[in-house]
Amino acid sequence: MIKIDFKNVSSSVIGEKYGLDIESEFGVYAPKIEEIIKNLNFNKDKQGAWLQWMNLGYSEETLWYVKEYAAMVENRFDNVLVLGIGGSALGAIAFCHALLKPNWNLLSKEERGGYPRIFFLDNIDPDEIQSLLNILDLKRTLVNVITKSGSTAETMAQFMIIKDKMQSLLGDDYRKNIVATTDKQSGVLRQIANEEGYKTFVVPDDVGGRFSVFSPVGLVPMALVGIDIDDIMNGIKTMDLALKNTDINKNIAAQNALIHYLMDTQKGHYITVMMPYSSKLKYVSDWFVQLWAESLGKEVDREGNLVNIGPVPIKALGATDQHSQIQLYNEGKHDKLINFIRVDEFDNVVEIPKIFEFTGINYLGGKTINELINAEADATAVALTDFKRPNLTIRMPKVNAYYMAELFYMLEVQTAIAGELYNINAFNQPGVEQAKNYTYALMGRSGYEESRNELEEKIGIKKEENN
Ligand code: PA5
Repeated sequence: MIKIDFKNVSSSVIGEKYGLDIESEFGVYAPKIEEIIKNLNFNKDKQGAWLQWMNLGYSEETLWYVKEYAAMVENRFDNVLVLGIGGSALGAIAFCHALLKPNWNLLSKEERGGYPRIFFLDNIDPDEIQSLLNILDLKRTLVNVITKSGSTAETMAQFMIIKDKMQSLLGDDYRKNIVATTDKQSGVLRQIANEEGYKTFVVPDDVGGRFSVFSPVGLVPMALVGIDIDDIMNGIKTMDLALKNTDINKNIAAQNALIHYLMDTQKGHYITVMMPYSSKLKYVSDWFVQLWAESLGKEVDREGNLVNIGPVPIKALGATDQHSQIQLYNEGKHDKLINFIRVDEFDNVVEIPKIFEFTGINYLGGKTINELINAEADATAVALTDFKRPNLTIRMPKVNAYYMAELFYMLEVQTAIAGELYNINAFNQPGVEQAKNYTYALMGRSGYEESRNELEEKIGIKKEENN
């Protein structure tokens, strides 16, 4: 299983001013943590508790339908194009980047084991969209449009463009190139899918976008490119079982949640840096940043009191960002907790040849790149510790579907527990909804006219210009 090493957060290593007396804090918080874990598990089937993500690892039916569909479309497409944003894209991006062979889309069909290339459009940059349309053969492309609400402007605008082009190329047969993932009954995409007769998958009730990676939101794109989703389910189940343990000394998600909470509230270390030492894990940080930020950045607590709280997540990549961010982390403000992710075994061992023997780089010759990245990760952790900067290390035996699932599920549970410690609702996102609604208003969606007038005044757009 994945493990976490907290020793460099402890006051015995980095001193009392910035470190935590972990043993004593675990003792103090043990009853609270026990109650939180019991409640999470007790309430997970309760309607409106937004905890259905805790059941996704056990959804054999979903697994079966996703695999059946993936098998049905196998060999029919050269490309998969995923349209989605935020929680509807980040999880699958992270899994595909970690688990597919590097440079997947540049490999031949044989090298990809017969599976299609995969592209994600999770932004509305006109140049990006146009350049993708220029290279994709839409006749040979399966589009997976994913939106829980069914109306997110970015995703639906992309979908309108692609659907229009596909229909002019394929006529009514274009439907066979679409698979929609959305709410089971509400939303514009559900209505369109029903009317047009698309194949659909459901984003289950009470699963928020950022907790949806193990629903069809993430599983469909992964299965389409041959990622072993059985392994994913097994990884979730193993971790779920471990995290049902209500003893803080045996529950890594609870330990990590508590450490982050105390570091923020007691020591002013409110910035969470997520820094994997593996290029495959680069987009784990993007997914985590959303999970941590949207879940924990809140205006009010559970009782409605104004609190304006939330730790600030930052993404970094080792060793690359040693050369851009570590100066700040070693010497800047004492406000960051660095989370390393280390991989015990890389897929490859790359040797550095013994050349330039009479120069200052001869020490590298005969070593491996593996030794170098590990030495750099060790060195960075020691240097941070010397500077009394709290840092912890999540260790993954290997980057595969099973351990990725363990890692993601652990981080989800950690976030849910942190939400309870902060006494906020980790599962809503009123701050996101507000900007979404303003966009609808500015783009002239019906029902948003009043808001539009107000907004135009705020932005300073003259009404005559729009008339
Ligand atoms: O986590 C969230 O709720 C958000 O990031 C959503 O996933 C994102 O806004 C996309 O929403 P939807 O899936 O409704 O298109």
